Amino acid sequence: VAPTQFLSILDFGPAQLSACLARAGELKAARSAHRPHERPLEGLHVALLFEKPSLRTRSTFQIAVRELGGHTIEPPEDVALGGRESIEDVARNLERWVAAAVVRTFAQSRLQTFADAAPRLRVINALTDEEHPCQALADCLTLTERLGSLRGRTIAFVGDGNNVAASLAQAATMLGANVRIASPKGFELAASIQVGIASSATSGGRLELTTDPVAAVHGADAVYTDVWTSMGQEAQGPDRHRIFAPYQVNAALMAQAAPGALFMHCLPAHRGDEVTDEVIDSPASVVFDQSENRLHTQKALLAMMAGA
Ligand code: CP
Ligand code: NVA
Repeated sequence: VAPTQFLSILDFGPAQLSACLARAGELKAARSAHRPHERPLEGLHVALLFEKPSLRTRSTFQIAVRELGGHTIEPPEDVALGGRESIEDVARNLERWVAAAVVRTFAQSRLQTFADAAPRLRVINALTDEEHPCQALADCLTLTERLGSLRGRTIAFVGDGNNVAASLAQAATMLGANVRIASPKGFELAASIQVGIASSATSGGRLELTTDPVAAVHGADAVYTDVWTSMGQEAQGPDRHRIFAPYQVNAALMAQAAPGALFMHCLPAHRGDEVTDEVIDSPASVVFDQSENRLHTQKALLAMMAGA
């Protein structure tokens, strides 16, 4: 049974996460063979509400909904969650018209308020300050395509203990991976996320935190990084640039990983900051596979949440 809300990776259990990835693989194969596939959103509408910019998430949800037979509506930002009326009332209106809402916002609590107000609406987290679960689905599909089972594999994340790191750590430990995160002091994964992972990790899955990028990357099967300054944190940019400088993923750091280790990034990348051109453009880089897999995993997610 699929959850009616996908606000966090933790709304899935290990079996649902694996089922979603398997289904995404099937949908991906059908699409590349131009084979017609199921259209569980036939006749349904999905609202896309974004309070922050997006290339990948918005585009892939638009395509995903259309390929599953549905239609999207995109209320303009000033009326979506813009404060013209309460966030609860926006949700209660949408609940009367659409089957699902895909929401990108600031605090996770804002998303929770929206979801709580409209229990019949399927709600999907398209990124909050705290979590980015749709990204983690694509990341795990990319990892399993390249590595097979993640059980016993080591995934290193170097940089800010942010939304992308949180959802990746939740998902990969749920699949039995060892996730190591190297962040500067004060930028670690949030304590609440760490506590959640302690109970959601399956056997073999574990989380290790360090401030040392070399220790995190040593022998890892994949090295992941993200921007140093996330959307909404622009005022802290100069400070963060200084603090995170020793956490750049460059060829010297990649050399510490296992032979053939993958390089990963959710994108957009700030080339020359968190990653060098040499690394992101190298054969080890799977960043555009991750981007492609946003589409396939979100189609699987939507189909599961539609009850199909
Ligand atoms: N990775 C990702 O979520 O990209 P967008 O911000 O462009 O949607
Ligand atoms: N951590 C980044 C991810 C963007 C997809 C941000 O929140 O801006």
